[in-house]
Amino acid sequence: MADVQINKEAFVSPVLNSSLAKISLESCLMNASGVHCTQESELQDLIEAKTGAVVSKSCTLEYRAGNPEPRYVTIPYGSINSMGLPNNGIRYYLDFIDGNQKNTAKPIILSIAGLTRKENIELLKTASSAQSLHAIEFNLSCPNIPGKPQTGYDFEESKSILEEAFSICSKPIGVKLPPYFDMAHFEAMAAILDQFPLAYICCVNSIGNGMWIDSAEESTVIKPKSGFGGIGGLFIKPTALANVRMFHKLLPHFNLVGCGGVQNGEDAFQHILCGASVVQIGTTLWEEGTACFDRISQELIDIMTKKGYSTIEDFRGKLREI
Ligand code: SIN
Repeated sequence: MADVQINKEAFVSPVLNSSLAKISLESCLMNASGVHCTQESELQDLIEAKTGAVVSKSCTLEYRAGNPEPRYVTIPYGSINSMGLPNNGIRYYLDFIDGNQKNTAKPIILSIAGLTRKENIELLKTASSAQSLHAIEFNLSCPNIPGKPQTGYDFEESKSILEEAFSICSKPIGVKLPPYFDMAHFEAMAAILDQFPLAYICCVNSIGNGMWIDSAEESTVIKPKSGFGGIGGLFIKPTALANVRMFHKLLPHFNLVGCGGVQNGEDAFQHILCGASVVQIGTTLWEEGTACFDRISQELIDIMTKKGYSTIEDFRGKLREI
């Protein structure tokens, strides 16, 4: 049998390297804040997994138990949650980051989500003085706090809080946005974001205040907020892709993070085609654990190999419009 000749020089195995907040990453995949990142052991798992970066659970100044259970339910095509920001308080996460950042080049990003403007300012001031912290993900989009609207849907407040944030915080700040559904809203938010030196823009948080019903029981499936909760998973991929795409078109100079509906390598590929430099994984991480990063990395590499792409920059943002 004749030997098959492989031209090894011509074949470059694809890599998933990217960058976030001007930090080089070995992979463009990471967790979405909220999933597997509340406890130290979970954050440690994420550091050890095939992630390029890690983000912690959105925190408040003090420990919060969160909303009553059941508060997260897997449903067909995704998930519904109303966790209510259960977290261990900012000091816990800053201590973890301080203790671990010297042992890993992988950035551990602190997510913050104060319940009031005053709390957000205190969180930003505290984070600003944390030595080994690389970047903050400012969550403007938690839909699950009874009586508290999502800041990202209030354009005036979004602008005003970002002005204050950048005046008091010296760390790179990225924002986590809610999904938008109207061209006028994309444009209004983009015009605001463009006024700030944001480290990145993450699109999207869950679609807020959805509902799932158990017909047999004739009841809601989660307890908080009369059954209203954030929808995640495959359900929201079209909305997530549209948000990444629109912000990439309106703000091409910003680092974009895609989040929503990533179950496999092809979903990640599509987020990157829309313009994302980094792809966050939430519902699938909840379902499958940190092994999902090995699987999705390999699936993305397989797609890139088939298409002859060596790096994600070969196709990032290059979605063909027909
Ligand atoms: C929660 O803890 O309720 C989820 C946080 C978020 O969606 O921002």
